[in-house]
Amino acid sequence: MMFPEYRPRRLRKNEQLRSLIRETLLSSEQLIYPLFVQPGKGIREPVPSMPGVFRISVDQLGGEAKECLALGINHVLLFGLPDKKDAMGSGAHAKDGIIQRAIRELKNKAPELMITTDVCLCEYTSHGHCGVLINHDVDNDATLEILARTALSHARAGADMVAPSDMMDGRVAEIRAVLDENNYDMVPIMSYAVKYASAFYGPFRDAAECAPQEGDRRGYQMDPANAREALREATLDVEEGADILMVKPAVAYLDIIKSLREEFDLPIAAYHVSGEYAMIKAAAANGWIDEERVMQETLLSIHRAGADIIITYFAKEMARLLNS
Ligand code: PBG
Repeated sequence: MMFPEYRPRRLRKNEQLRSLIRETLLSSEQLIYPLFVQPGKGIREPVPSMPGVFRISVDQLGGEAKECLALGINHVLLFGLPDKKDAMGSGAHAKDGIIQRAIRELKNKAPELMITTDVCLCEYTSHGHCGVLINHDVDNDATLEILARTALSHARAGADMVAPSDMMDGRVAEIRAVLDENNYDMVPIMSYAVKYASAFYGPFRDAAECAPQEGDRRGYQMDPANAREALREATLDVEEGADILMVKPAVAYLDIIKSLREEFDLPIAAYHVSGEYAMIKAAAANGWIDEERVMQETLLSIHRAGADIIITYFAKEMARLLNS
């Protein structure tokens, strides 16, 4: 069919027709809201590079959880700032560590809220790398055991799902084995399967105080130029037992999301990261873009590319818009 018989504009005539044929719909149920937890009491400290995002103390989590649930957001992703850091990142798996306390508080105040924890060492190491350093290099195999211990301590505290973001080789298998040995065979792993060495993490590193003191993360995170390698990384994680595959960042990697969607039948998550959020906030603050529409269009594009799940600092704002 060709013009003038076929006129695509016929189905764009009004909102009722447009919504009838809409192919992609966002819902608050597919959103995961990241939370930064820090020591202290009564703290709600704004993150300067991420307007609308706060680092909060454990006692503030109940209120935050209730707000999420009221908006229809059922999932949060926890990041912790420990009291003190050391070379081995031991605060990551401390029984009374910041995340372990946060999980217990959330489970106590809002048991229906599903808690996913970021499993990584960078917030807990004095040098800021995602694993332990041996001769100035992040040692893969020495890190695995600590990561698995961290994931186990999160499960013991009551986490519903763990999300390893360190990019060490073999970590999904190691975490799966340790969880299973300890009867946490029902705790899923959402693997940061394809995580690029990205400059879009800048604002997060301020928020979580986890910028590496020396060097960078290119020795373990992926090269932004590589797409085929993303499929290899994802294949490994599937074989090791991942339940959900994540791509990160999201908007600059929509092609990767799409190719994972086509190649794999596991649920796909995408992390709309701090820099992607900050850019929208900054342009909107200058009056250069319509924040609400750009937010919606951005999250829609991530979903349209093939992500079932979107992790975003916009979760609450998006849910508010969807509910209005
Ligand atoms: C750390 C981690 C990072 C993010 C999530 N987990 C930072 C990094 O790898 O440097 C980035 C999240 C964001 O930018 O919003 N393991």
